[in-house]
Amino acid sequence: MYKLLIKPLLFLFSPEQAHHLVFKMLKMAFKIPGVSTIIKSLYVIDDKQLPVVLGNLKFSSPVGLAAGFDKDAYLFDELAAFGFGFIEIGTVTPRQQPGNPKPRLFRLPADEALINRMGFNNEGVDAVVERLKKRKSGVLIGGNIGKNKLTANEDALDDYLICFEKLFDVVDYFVINVSSPNTPGLRALQEIGPLTKLLNGIQQKNKSYRNPKPVFLKIAPDLTFEQIDEIAVLVEQTKLNGLIISNTTISRDGLKTDTETIENIGAGGLSGKPLRSHSTEIIRYLSQTKKVKFDIIGVGGIHSASDAIEKIEAGAKLVQLYTGFIYEGPGLVKKINHAMIKR
Ligand SMILES: Cc1cc2nc3c(=O)[nH]c(=O)nc-3n(C[C@H](O)[C@H](O)[C@H](O)COP(=O)(O)O)c2cc1C
Repeated sequence: MYKLLIKPLLFLFSPEQAHHLVFKMLKMAFKIPGVSTIIKSLYVIDDKQLPVVLGNLKFSSPVGLAAGFDKDAYLFDELAAFGFGFIEIGTVTPRQQPGNPKPRLFRLPADEALINRMGFNNEGVDAVVERLKKRKSGVLIGGNIGKNKLTANEDALDDYLICFEKLFDVVDYFVINVSSPNTPGLRALQEIGPLTKLLNGIQQKNKSYRNPKPVFLKIAPDLTFEQIDEIAVLVEQTKLNGLIISNTTISRDGLKTDTETIENIGAGGLSGKPLRSHSTEIIRYLSQTKKVKFDIIGVGGIHSASDAIEKIEAGAKLVQLYTGFIYEGPGLVKKINHAMIKR
């Protein structure tokens, strides 16, 4: 139904228009009594083998919605009805910001991929906190945090700490995002000096709470293996819970879409199928070659149940998706959940 009917209709609109349309339609539909129950009965699988425990968190399913889809926490309760075990909101910054000029989101149908240069458009942490306070479902929420565009990298820790403190009571885990390619200079925070300062600062704040929250770092797939090694050591030193692997890539290698179209689109992060194998390779490298002890959440190019299983077998405890949800629709979550149970 999704691929035959809904997707062709949505693809008539620009990607960003389609996104807003889906949000409006779902918000309206879920106000009709009974709709939530019907959607849940269609998509949510209740099976003792499905939940995954990570630290003190129990994920009802190992499949989550990746950051960027519900940046401002408008739709997490409704999205949970499609069978996600966790929803990552954000990236959230201290102050609201408009992001980059439109158009800034592009489809590459031949590659089943997207290119985006949204640039952390979001309503700011205070608005997001107010919405999260009204959480109705039991779905776990990840708070993906970043810095405002106008904040210098030297002051980045302040921005992350503002978001961390404000979100602390309304999220279940945190993600430190230093890997978006669309905020100028942000990825320089992945270098070991600034990253050490950032992670130490956040963990110090985290430890000041009676019950600290799990904290993950989200990395780019464009790092060298040397950089990945250094980051892995730092994650262990700073006692982070683990890594989210990965964000979008700036690489354009191996695309089917013609070069002219790609050049016309310009800068941005590539997500979807072309990202799959490299993000899995990094997971496998850390988990099997380096035998790291921390947890890994695998994301990038999951468009089928076997793509998700591939990430789990490489060493991920949980998986997330974004672009696969656009191309395959909500049925994908159910397919993955079924496959996870069968394993
Ligand atoms: C339109 C769009 C916006 C995104 N925004 C964010 C974001 O704000 N923060 C973040 O950490 N990742 C963001 N991402 C990256 C995704 O969370 C994910 O890491 C990446 O798309 C790879 O997964 P996928 O291939 O399943 O899409 C965004 C991705 C897309 C396509």
